[in-house]
Amino acid sequence: MTEQTHHNPEVLNRLASAFSVLPNPNKATPEDRESKTDKPAFGQVFSDSMVRMTWHKESGWSHGQVEPYGPLHLDPAAAVLHYAQEVFEGLKAYHREDGSIWLFRPDANAERFKESARRLSLPELSTDDFLGAVAALVQQDAQWVPTRREYTLYLRPFMYASEPFLGVRAPHQVDFCVIASPSGPYFSGGVKPVSIWVENRWFRTGPGGTGFAKCGGNYAASLVGENRGSEHGCEQVCFVDAATGTYLEELGGMNMFIVHRDGSLETPSLTGTILPGVTRRSLIQLAQDAGHEVRESMIRLDDLLEDIRSGEVTEVFACGTAAIVTPIKCFKSEAFDVTVADGESGSLTMQLRNQLLGIQLGEVTDLHNWMWKVC
Ligand code: COI
Repeated sequence: MTEQTHHNPEVLNRLASAFSVLPNPNKATPEDRESKTDKPAFGQVFSDSMVRMTWHKESGWSHGQVEPYGPLHLDPAAAVLHYAQEVFEGLKAYHREDGSIWLFRPDANAERFKESARRLSLPELSTDDFLGAVAALVQQDAQWVPTRREYTLYLRPFMYASEPFLGVRAPHQVDFCVIASPSGPYFSGGVKPVSIWVENRWFRTGPGGTGFAKCGGNYAASLVGENRGSEHGCEQVCFVDAATGTYLEELGGMNMFIVHRDGSLETPSLTGTILPGVTRRSLIQLAQDAGHEVRESMIRLDDLLEDIRSGEVTEVFACGTAAIVTPIKCFKSEAFDVTVADGESGSLTMQLRNQLLGIQLGEVTDLHNWMWKVC
């Protein structure tokens, strides 16, 4: 096993120590916690603690605190309930065989969180506060990080306009929280290839919209397509661009890559309507490191279908923090049903998946200094 520690753990320790801790007096019993962290599904159970910070227009961000996990107190007039000013992130804490706990590129999530906030007229949270909040929660609830391979503590930082006011404007009061969920694979079948519904009636976002921001509204808008997909037996929906209905964008909650017969990869370019995924960016790097050409381009749906049928495209996969790397079996709509190669997991897909997971678990050299040790 190769272990590299480029990020000094003292940095996260120092940032985490800026958060005071109010321990949960009703913590789960060890038996309860063990059963909840043994083989959890995705996003269904939550740890003992959460982080909370508040922002006021006049005074800025308050001091942050780790406190008992529990329901939020929200005024019925809170702006987020009416105008959806909310942004979030998703990242994971990984348990390694030696008992240490690590984060994967949390600084990239912190940066994207700022960009999302700007788009929704929410205040920016500094990278230091983002990292400190996440690390403080993981340190406090370290025993909630599952030890089973491919099971992690999924961390969900989020920010919302909590001000009770029905006028439509940038909020004067905002809350920031981080919650933690011991989680297994996003798709209940694990690494099994998934079926994709190509949505042609409803769009996720459009030019100049919020597509690049990680805001709840994008996911709300994806559900009608997701539902149509599940009526047709598909696990995920693929959106095309709203302007022309021609180009591939992203799936309901993850990015997408295409593998060509010559070993090159292609992924939809960041045109402002799709999420700049941290996993997407990392896979581009890993594929390039392994000598594969990677193109970020506008990919026509019709070309993809034709190239799958002719055998020019040999693999397609989805990727994201939650999905990691998930092979795609087929694309369906009312007009077509096209299976990628033999419908099984492709070899480059699995190679990239194993390499990424290997870096996260400390089994593969972390050449790009992506891992941060928490404790
Ligand atoms: C993630 O991959 O972290 C996401 O936020 C996607 C969501 C659909 C779970």
